[in-house]
Amino acid sequence: MEKKKFYITTPIYYPSDKLHIGHTYCTVATDAIARYKRLKGFDVMFLTGTDEHGQKIEEKAEEAGVTPQQFVDNIVTGERGVKDLWKLMNISNDRFIRTTDEYHVGAVQKIFKKMYDKGDIYKGAYAGKYCTPCESFWTESQLVDGKCPDCGRPVVDAQEEAYFFRLSKYADRVRDLLVNTDFLEPKSRVHEMVNNFIDPGLEDLCVSRTSFTWGVPVDFDPGHVVYVWVDALFNYTTALGLFNDKYDDYDEYWPADVHIVGKEIVRFHSIIWPAMLMSMDMPLPKKVFGHGWLLLDGGKMSKSKGNVVDPYLLSEKFGVDALRFFLMRTFPFGSDGNFSNELLIQTINTDLANTLGNLVSRTTAMVGKYFGGTLPAGSGATEDEKYLNDVYAQARESQSEVSLSFNFPEGDPVKYDVELITTALQMREKFEEQMESYAPHKALDEVFKLIDRANKYIDENAPWALAKDVEANGARLAHVLYNLLEATRLSGILLTPFMPESCGKLFDQIGAGEDVRTWDSAAQWGALHESTAVTKGENLFPRVDMEKALEELEQAEAAARKAVLPPIELEPQLTEQVDFDTFCKSDFRAVKVKACEAVKKSAKLLKFTLDDGTGTDRQILSGIHAWYEPEDLIGKTLVAIVNLPPRKMMGQESCGMLISAVHTEKGEEKLHLLMIDDAIPAGAKMC
Ligand code: MSP
Repeated sequence: MEKKKFYITTPIYYPSDKLHIGHTYCTVATDAIARYKRLKGFDVMFLTGTDEHGQKIEEKAEEAGVTPQQFVDNIVTGERGVKDLWKLMNISNDRFIRTTDEYHVGAVQKIFKKMYDKGDIYKGAYAGKYCTPCESFWTESQLVDGKCPDCGRPVVDAQEEAYFFRLSKYADRVRDLLVNTDFLEPKSRVHEMVNNFIDPGLEDLCVSRTSFTWGVPVDFDPGHVVYVWVDALFNYTTALGLFNDKYDDYDEYWPADVHIVGKEIVRFHSIIWPAMLMSMDMPLPKKVFGHGWLLLDGGKMSKSKGNVVDPYLLSEKFGVDALRFFLMRTFPFGSDGNFSNELLIQTINTDLANTLGNLVSRTTAMVGKYFGGTLPAGSGATEDEKYLNDVYAQARESQSEVSLSFNFPEGDPVKYDVELITTALQMREKFEEQMESYAPHKALDEVFKLIDRANKYIDENAPWALAKDVEANGARLAHVLYNLLEATRLSGILLTPFMPESCGKLFDQIGAGEDVRTWDSAAQWGALHESTAVTKGENLFPRVDMEKALEELEQAEAAARKAVLPPIELEPQLTEQVDFDTFCKSDFRAVKVKACEAVKKSAKLLKFTLDDGTGTDRQILSGIHAWYEPEDLIGKTLVAIVNLPPRKMMGQESCGMLISAVHTEKGEEKLHLLMIDDAIPAGAKMC
C-alpha cells in the first residue's frame, strides 16, 4: 500500500548571525513532529533551509568587508554554522534549500512574472517606513511610538519606485480562510491577524526594492530586486520543483500539511502567503502553526542585547537529546516560555535522571542481577493480559471506549499489573491525540504517566523482597521484571521522535529488536520477546550537579559573550556644536595630588586633596576606586575642571571633577585618569 504523504516545513533562517536556542526550538519541534509522522508510517518530506537575500545581509556583509555570498556561505556552511547545528541536533530534514541556489532564483523570477502578467503585480512608487532588521514595510499608522511594531527598533524612510502586489484584492478570501477554517492555529493567532491586520484594511504590498542589489533580480526590469519575503515564502514550493528542474516532487507533496513558524512571522504566512498562492492559482497549505517564543528574563533573545543562548554550548554540556527533550517537554508549544539554565538542569534531573533513567537502570540491573540478563521462558504476558491487549486493540479499531471493571482482593499484585498495563495500552492514543494537535509537551505528559506508573510498580512489587526466596517467588519476580521492560519499551517508542539516539540505546539495553520499536507495537503489550538479552549499559541520563553546572555555564557564556564583543567601543562623538565662548567658560587646570584616600562606606569613591596653585587645598571626590588604589596616585599631576558648582557625595563636598579617558574593551568599562607631565606646575591652565 502506498504510504500517505506528509509535507512539513520550518521557516528558512536568516543567516545574518549564528543561530541561537530560539531557532533551535523551532527546528527541534518540527523535527520531532516529522519523526513522529515517519514512525506512524507516513512518507514525510521535511524541509528546512536559509533565507539569504535582503538589505540586512547586504549591510552586514559590507560591515564585515566580504561579499554577501561569502558572508552567508560562512554562516550557512562554515564551522558551527546552520548546517553544522542541524547535524549536531540530529535534525532529520530531507531537503535543505538556500534561497541563493540557482534553481530557486530562476523559479522566483518566473513566479514574479506570472503574478505580474496576471495583473496582480503592478508598478508604483513606495513611500513609507522600512524596518531593515525585520525586512518589513510599515505605514506610519502601524508604527508603535514611531518604531517597528515587531522588534521596537527604529525604522527608516523608504521612498522608491517599486512593484506592488494586490494584497487588498485577496483580503476577503484570506479573512474567510482564517476565520472559517483551521488553516491557522492556535486560534488566538487568528484574532490577532484579523483584528490587527485584515480588518483595519489590507493595503497592497510593496514587492520590489531598488535601493540595494542583494536579491533575486526582476528579470523584466533590471534595477529591481524581488522583496525578500516573496522570494523566501516560495521556497516551500521551489524546493519541491516548482518552475525548476532540480526537483520533481511538487505534485507529490504540495500542498504542505503544515508550516511551523514563530509567532512574529505568522502575518507573512497566514496573510501574504495564501494571497500570493491564490494569485498563482495554487492550492493552499493545509495549516500554519504559530508557536511561541523562548524568552530570556521575560524578554526577547537578541544578539544586540548580548543575551542569546548558544545551543552548541548546552548540547556539549548536557547532550543533544537532553536539550531536545527539555525544549519539547517544558514549554507549551503555542505560547511563550521563559528559558533558563536552572529549568534545563531541573528537567534533566527530574524527568530524565530520576524518572526515566531510574526506571531503565533499575530494571536492567535487576534482570542482570536476578536472572543473569535473560528472563526465563514463561515470564511474558499471561493469557489474561493478552486478553486485555485484545480488548484495547478492538476498541481502537471500532473507535469505542473500553469499560472494564475489576475487583481485586486487597494486596493482590495482579491489581498492579492491570493498572500498569491499562495505562500503557491507553498511552499511544492519548499521545497521538496531543501530537496531532501540535501539543508535544502534552504528548510527553502521557508518556511520563506510564513511566511514573512503572516506577511506582517497582515499589509496589519490591522485586528485591521477591528475590529473597527465588524458589517460591521466582516466576512472579520474572513477570514483574518483564512488565517493567515492556513499560520501558512502550515509552521508548513514543520518546524516539524527541530523543532518537538515547532511545536507540535504551532499546539496545532492554533487548528490543527493530520489530518491537514500531508504532504498531507501541500499542501491543507483550510484544517484547521474553527471552531477550538485557544488558545494563551506560547510564543514559546522568544526573547534573546543578550548582557546579550553573557556574561552569556562566563562565562559558561569559567567555563566549566576550569573544563576540567588539574589542574596543568608544562613546559616539557629539554632533551638537558648542560655540567657542561657551567652551572657554570651562576652566581646566593642572592639579597635584597631595593626599588621596578611599571614602568610608563607598565602594567607588576616592577623596583627593589637591594643590591647584591657589595656595588653598582643593577637595575633589571621584568614583574611580575600581581602577586605582589611593596610594598609587599621590604626587601625580592630573587635570581637573575647577569651576563646576560644588556638590556633596556621601556627605562630603567635591569641588570640581578630575578628567579621565574612558572606553569599553570586550564589554568591560576602562578608565584612565589624565596624567600629565610632572614638570607642569599646579594651577597651569589648559587651553
Ligand atoms: N527568514 C525568515 C523566515 C522565512 S520563512 C519563509 C525568518 N528567519 S529567522 O531566522 O529570523 O527566524 C526563523 C524562526 O526562528 C522564526 O520562526 C522565529 O520565530 C524563530 N525564532 C527566533 N527566535 C526565537 C525565539 N527566541 N524563540 C522561538 N522561536 C524564535 O524569520
